[in-house]
Amino acid sequence: MRLDKLLVELNIGTRSEVKALLKKGLILVDGNRGNKPEEKVDENTVVIAYQGKEYRYKQFSYYIMNKPKGVITATEDGKEKTVMDVFYEQCSDAPRGLSPVGRLDKDTTGLLLITNDGKLAHELLSPKKHVDKTYFVTLDKELEKSDIEALEAGVSIGEGDLTAPAKVEYSGGKTCYITIHEGKFHQVKRMFFAVGKEVLELKRTAFGPLKLDENKLPMGKICELSHFNSLKY
Ligand code: URA
Repeated sequence: MRLDKLLVELNIGTRSEVKALLKKGLILVDGNRGNKPEEKVDENTVVIAYQGKEYRYKQFSYYIMNKPKGVITATEDGKEKTVMDVFYEQCSDAPRGLSPVGRLDKDTTGLLLITNDGKLAHELLSPKKHVDKTYFVTLDKELEKSDIEALEAGVSIGEGDLTAPAKVEYSGGKTCYITIHEGKFHQVKRMFFAVGKEVLELKRTAFGPLKLDENKLPMGKICELSHFNSLKY
């Protein structure tokens, strides 16, 4: 890869900024100064140092956010604050071009995967792959046994077919966990609406192999996974 392209991908600066930094000798490439922007480097092995920090190229990056309320799940938006605005406020050194995988509503909190691994994102979202998503739900009323049976069997949310079978686990009072593998618009809220309940709070606690641990990742915080599938953070 061209050195200037790599430096831009590492988020050290824009193409003209990194060119100027190289010219001033402020960037070390494998410990050396004076490299040219057009020079080719092996991105898999080269070590870049700038302002006392070391940078190594990674083809893909994976982060988990415990999404806070009040931000929309989008990469950018003219009006509203997005999860990626929150992300880059906290992780200003992260590579550009990352996106959230799937969508949580503005008032939904919890586990959101952020990556630039488009193939993985596609697989996780593919309806054919049946990737489980678990939500902790707070309702306006207590669930009846018959509601749980209906939700588990599939309910009509006005789209012709019933929702696919779900798993509901009563969690005391007006709360429960629901696990679904579809991803229809406002699906969880609409499913509970179908059994006469209103969702007051919604938090995603698991997505595929990833589980939210709020002791380690409080709301609004982000952590990097060393690789996808890593359950450690
Ligand atoms: N279902 C919803 O209704 N909202 C979400 O944010 C996620 C799933």
